[in-house]
Amino acid sequence: MDFGQLRRGLDMGPAAARYTGLVSALRTLGHHVEDLGDVRVPVRTPVEEGEASDYIEQIRGVCEQVYDQGRTATRENAFPLFIGGDHSIAIGTVGGVSHDRPTGLIWIDAHADFNTPVTSPSGNIHGMPLAVLTGDGDDRLVNLGRPGAKVDLENIVMIGIRDVDRLERERLKKSGITVYTMSDIDEQGMSTIAKKALMKLIHLKRVHLSLDIDALDPVEAPGVGTPVPGGLTFREAHLFMEILSDSGKLTSMDLVEINPILDQANKTAKLAVDLIVSALGKSIL
Ligand code: ARG
Ligand code: MN
Ligand code: MN
Ligand code: MN
Repeated sequence: MDFGQLRRGLDMGPAAARYTGLVSALRTLGHHVEDLGDVRVPVRTPVEEGEASDYIEQIRGVCEQVYDQGRTATRENAFPLFIGGDHSIAIGTVGGVSHDRPTGLIWIDAHADFNTPVTSPSGNIHGMPLAVLTGDGDDRLVNLGRPGAKVDLENIVMIGIRDVDRLERERLKKSGITVYTMSDIDEQGMSTIAKKALMKLIHLKRVHLSLDIDALDPVEAPGVGTPVPGGLTFREAHLFMEILSDSGKLTSMDLVEINPILDQANKTAKLAVDLIVSALGKSIL
């Protein structure tokens, strides 16, 4: 779905990932894969030129289905992989996979997505999912699936951040969430950051990765609606996935914000699929 922001095309992300061979690449790794198809997404009528927040009901409807899918998959001890779609789907994915136990959340993104309707300069819901998941925002989203916050602030690690809004920054600082910005990665290197992130979540049985493809540099991932220069390189992103895979801790994942309309010959979806395959066990040797 693409209701979390104003540009069109994010709803085509799953199709682009399928066309580039996601399922067969995962099967080649030896995984048993079931493509459950798309959740039901209402048609977005072009006449509504309103704010993205007009779409809360549509977002809630999609996220409720996604929540159920995440809960069912984790109950069956399967690994749910969610392809977006704008980042507001994480309200459903993270809610669903955390239904029965505390869950670690790794949020890789250029943005913090920690706005509330009060702090957001855009009003776009895709800038709010992390706030919603920690209990702040519109009640219809905060109470989706079950009432209140879905993850504890101390069980969240953010990586790749480089574009935070003014009031969002104040909220983020107060929250105490562990944040590794692009400067931290420049200074310490991705391998150190990856190991620190995993140490932080070591006590948890379940770890979800929410990967916003705009965390990568726009040179690598041009097919995104909110590009920010100075992002992760191809190898930094892959290295993180490889270390995460080796850790054996990852139990579910989102890949969001692929916009095929803004892309160059499906380059961004191909990169996304490569990263998923790395996170799910592909190694160089
Ligand atoms: N911080 C900006 C906003 O709240 C941009 C958010 C971008 N989020 C994303 N998932 N790409 O509008
Ligand atoms: Mn982003
Ligand atoms: Mn995001
Ligand atoms: Mn790889």
